[in-house]
This record gives sequence, C-alpha cells and structure tokens, in this order.
Amino acid sequence: MQPDPRNWQAVEELRLINTVVGRICQVREVNHIMNIILTELTRVTEADQGVISIVSKKQADALTTVIRNNDRRNSELPFQISQSLAGWVLSHRQLARIDDLDTDRRFQDLDSDNGRFTSAICCPLLVRDEAIGVVALVRSRQKGPFTEDHCRLVGILSAQSAQILANAQLLKDLAQNNELLELSYKQLKDENAILRTELGVGPSFENIVGSSRAIRHVLMLASKFSANNAPVLITGETGTGKELIARAIHANSDLRHQPFVVKNCAIKTESLLESELFGHVRGAFTGADKEKPGLFKEAQGGTIFLDEIGDAPLSTQAAILRVIQSGEIRPVGASKTETVKVRVLSATNRNLKDEIAKGTFREDLYYRLNTFTIELPPLRERRDDIPLLVQHALSLLRIKLNAPNLAVSSEALDTLYRYSWPGNARQLEHVIERAAVVCNPETEIKPYHLSPEIHDETEEISSIGTSLGEMRQAVEKLEKTMIVSTLAETNGNIMRTADQLGLTRKGLKDKMVRYGFKLPAD
Ligand SMILES: Nc1ncnc2c1ncn2[C@@H]1O[C@H](COP(=O)(O)OP(=O)(O)OP(=O)(O)O)[C@@H](O)[C@H]1O
Ligand SMILES: [Mg+2]
Repeated sequence: MQPDPRNWQAVEELRLINTVVGRICQVREVNHIMNIILTELTRVTEADQGVISIVSKKQADALTTVIRNNDRRNSELPFQISQSLAGWVLSHRQLARIDDLDTDRRFQDLDSDNGRFTSAICCPLLVRDEAIGVVALVRSRQKGPFTEDHCRLVGILSAQSAQILANAQLLKDLAQNNELLELSYKQLKDENAILRTELGVGPSFENIVGSSRAIRHVLMLASKFSANNAPVLITGETGTGKELIARAIHANSDLRHQPFVVKNCAIKTESLLESELFGHVRGAFTGADKEKPGLFKEAQGGTIFLDEIGDAPLSTQAAILRVIQSGEIRPVGASKTETVKVRVLSATNRNLKDEIAKGTFREDLYYRLNTFTIELPPLRERRDDIPLLVQHALSLLRIKLNAPNLAVSSEALDTLYRYSWPGNARQLEHVIERAAVVCNPETEIKPYHLSPEIHDETEEISSIGTSLGEMRQAVEKLEKTMIVSTLAETNGNIMRTADQLGLTRKGLKDKMVRYGFKLPAD
C-alpha cells in the first residue's frame, strides 16, 4: 500500500516542530531565545526578514525587539512592523497574512517599500490569554506570498515559543528580585556591621535590627553573656525580640554547634510540661507506651530556651531549679535521676518579683535564672529604630509579595514613628505587611493604608487645627482611611463598601477618583 502523502507531510511537520522547540528549549536568556525563534521562523518559512517584539509589562510602551535578515550580507534597512498591523494582531489575537502589502485594504499604512517586500505574516505571541509580543516575517516578490502551510507552522511555533519566552522572562524577574533582596540585606548588614564594630560583637547579631542607644546596650550585654555559659533571663513586653536575642546568644556562644531547643512553659497541665522537659519512662501514665527522652536530653551539650518561664507551674519550677543547680533530671515515672549539661536561657513578659510576692514563682529559682538579665526595651522607648525596622520588613516583603518597588511614604513613616506600638516589633511587622497588601496595586504605602488603630491613636496625638484648610485636610484624611479599610474588609467590593460607609455607589466612586484611587474594572 502506498503511504498517504498527507500523513507523510504531517509527520515531517511534527518532526520539524519538535526540532525547533528542542533548540529553543536549550537556552535560558530572553534575548537569546528571541534570536533563535526568529532564526528558526525565517528559515522554515524562507522569509527574507523577521522581527520579534516583546511588550514590557512594567512600561506599556517599552518594546524589546530583535530583527533578523535571512541574508546576513544584506545591510538594507529592516522591515518595520506598522502600528496598525501590530495593533490588529494584538487586539484580535490572531495571525494576519498579507499577500500584497501595497493593496491590502486592512492596513493602509503598510507598503512594499518600493517593491522590496511584498508579502508578510504577523502572529501574536500568546501565553494563556495574554499577548506578550508579536512576530512578523516578510518576503520579497521573487519568493512569492507565504502559503497556508507557512501560516500553520508559524502559528504553532509561536504558541510554543511564547510559553518558553514567558518562563524565561519570569526567571529573569525572579533573579532581579533576588538581587534586590540581597541588596537590602547588604545595606542592613552594613549598618549592623558598623554597630558591631562599635560594640565589638560577633556576626550572629546581624539580624537584630536597630541602632538606638537602648538596643546597642542590649547587644553589648548579649555579646558579653554569650562568652559565658551561665543562665540568662530575658525580660520584655510581648514582641520585643526575646526569642531573637536568645537565639543570637546561643549562636554567638561556644555552644553554637550544639543543639538549641525551645520550650514554651505556658502549658496548663504540669504533668505534660514535665514529661516534655524531662521525658518519661514506658508506662509512666496512660498512653505512655514508649520511653521518651525529653527536651533537656535533646539539648544535651547545648542550650535550652525556656520561654514564658513565669507561667510554669510551681512543681515544674522545682525540677528546673534542680537541673540548674546540679544538672540532674528525673524522667516522669523513673526511680533514678540522670545528669545533663545544658545551658538555660529563659524569657518572660511577666514581672517575676510580682509573681514571687503572689506566691506563684519560686524566689530561689528567680535568683538562679537571673545570674545575668537582659531587659528588652519596648519599641516606643527606642523610636529611632522604627525606620530601620520598617525598611527591614519592606525588604522581606518585596520578595514575599513579588513587589520589587514596594516603599513607604515619608508621611506614613511619620505616622508609624508617632504610634505607641503596644505589640512592639512583631506588631510593626504585621502592620507593614497588611499595609503592603492593602496599598496594592500602588507600591508606596501612604498613611491611609495603615491599620485603623494606628490612625485612631496618631490622629488624636497630632494637633487638631482650627483653620478651614486644616479641617478640610483632616476630613479628607479620615475619608481616605475609612475607604481603604472598608475596601480591604470587603475585598474591594464597591457596592458593599458604599453600603457600609452609607454612601451611594456613585458617591463612593466620585470620592475614590478625587483621592486618586484606582477604580476596579466593572
Ligand atoms: N530588633 C529586631 N530586629 C529585627 N526583628 C525583630 C527585632 N525585634 C523583634 N523582631 C521580630 O519581631 C518578631 C517577634 O520577636 P520575638 O518572637 O523574638 O519576640 P518575643 O519577645 O519573644 O515575643 P513574645 O513575648 O510574644 O513571645 C519576630 O519576627 C522578630 O524577628
Ligand atoms: Mg517569644
């Protein structure tokens, strides 16, 4: 039986597509890929020239263009894709074939350049539903117009290449973002390096941001206490960085290559806490079907960090005192004690002297724990660190949210500086993350992107003016804040936002336009 020539042609075409896609896949760099796509397309269609243009996402009018002459010796001016042809192809998302550039009525601004080129194909580069660029090929009169087969091949190869090109662009963007992160880290490192030199502290403190006198004192103490294996008690309000300091002390000590184990002691059932800290023998209690070593044994030779020590039950406090005094632990249900060598760091946000007075904390343990004490100042007492902490949070968010241009306006920074920060550095991290999400698609955090609690407080503090101009400004600020917060609550739903604010839909939209908000597409 004779082979069907149509099948034969289809197989040849598949083979060709496979080879071309294989070649494109071998490179990673965007311009290089564009070059190969064009070389292959001009070759398979026997075109005289080709042009490929990628539309930049960031700047609507910026194009990356590669032009190729089939005949490399040909130094004549290249063919230009006319605005109307590229516009038609991008908006119709379809390939256009023009057999005679002088007479085609659809594109009046096209011509053959005095007979140099007579026919063309222009095809969009589509990724999912988005046109990321166009590719155009031209032929001279001698070669005759492009055929249906050429159009089909260009269509298939453009679709395959577009995806590869988009992936390469994504990789390039990611690499750029990484560079930005590295740069921000480098800046922070440099600032901290200066600080370290002043204090003579080691590199393990470099992720602790701050240059205020208060934090410098903390770092100086932490650095000195690292050199000694005695217990350290770290006190401070919630979110002031107690765990961060504990980790840095360990990382800067001789024990840095040994384990660092964290245990939060705010556990209601004391038997559970004791079994976690000191382990238990098999059958010690219902459900103890296996022996468990406990965290003090896990930390053997290293450091244990007992967080929220002020919340530990009295009986556990006695056992902790024993291990600090003699290194002895007794697993729950065991008849004998064992010995461990572990450095004990602890932290609390309670006032332990008050707890001693109430009878809920052992005085003897208190004096054992606080051989050395570090008191972490609340953020409101080291406001000079707020801008540095904001920049630190932004540098992490630029990557996390893929927003390389994320920044904060000086007005917003001023508001953040004045706020009282009851939740300290942790609250600041959360506030900046929320603002970064709320301000999208803008990239600069403005005062009205900040959480309402910050506004309520800072607005009260800032003087209330009496002149007409100041009153109008204050009303505008309040309106902006309320609109942003409600939009965030309703996920950008205009109708529900208007309802909640007691405005008509049009009234809300007018205000949004006046304040420069981007209106969501209807
Ligand atoms: N000086 C600082 N530099 C950089 N980040 C900080 C600083 N202080 C605190 N943070 C960050 O704030 C957050 C809270 O820190 P951490 O968990 O150490 O606080 P904490 O005092 O242990 O809080 P809690 O009492 O609530 O347990 C962490 O994400 C930490 O990285
Ligand atoms: Mg903590």
